[in-house]
Amino acid sequence: MSGNSLLKGVTNARSIQNLALIGFMGTGKSSVGRLVADLLHFTYLDTDRVVEARASKSIAEIFQQEGEPAFRAYEQRIVQELTHRRKTVISTGGGLPIQEENLASLKTHALVVGLWASPETIFERVRGHDHRPLLNEADPLAKIRSLLAIREPYYRQADVLVNTEWRSVRDVAVQVIHQFHIAQAAHK
Ligand code: S3P
Repeated sequence: MSGNSLLKGVTNARSIQNLALIGFMGTGKSSVGRLVADLLHFTYLDTDRVVEARASKSIAEIFQQEGEPAFRAYEQRIVQELTHRRKTVISTGGGLPIQEENLASLKTHALVVGLWASPETIFERVRGHDHRPLLNEADPLAKIRSLLAIREPYYRQADVLVNTEWRSVRDVAVQVIHQFHIAQAAHK
């Protein structure tokens, strides 16, 4: 993926009240999202944390005890509850936009920004962290490559794609905010 960002056509029917970040694990959704929320004076919400609060257990425990489909059902319910939110930066779990109705729902109220990084960069960022059940594999880099290849078409459906490769969290956050202001001005 080349270039730092690309603002695609956001139809006039859209209402841009919120900002949603999608992208693979380790692309910086949480760190960028928290900073963007701070700078915009928006509320910050992370769907992974809401799922954990709802289930009263960690994501690893949900995967282990209830299975991935149960986790995806929690995600879907939470996305449906976000439609009346205002002034919220929403960080999403890496697999959330794979259910197309989740992405469609986010687009009704939020500018959807996709954060991108190469498999090698993602691997460097997530290695040593053991809270992501999908990467508890003998060869996590191979798993990142194969999952990213499957998911890329979904991440590309974001309104804006932002490359996070070799860039600071602040640099990415400033670019995300810039894109948000452009989109909001276009849909007043
Ligand atoms: C997942 C990503 C994780 C979390 C869960 C599944 C995925 O979130 O939702 O472990 O399917 O890519 P992060 O992208 O915030 O790590």
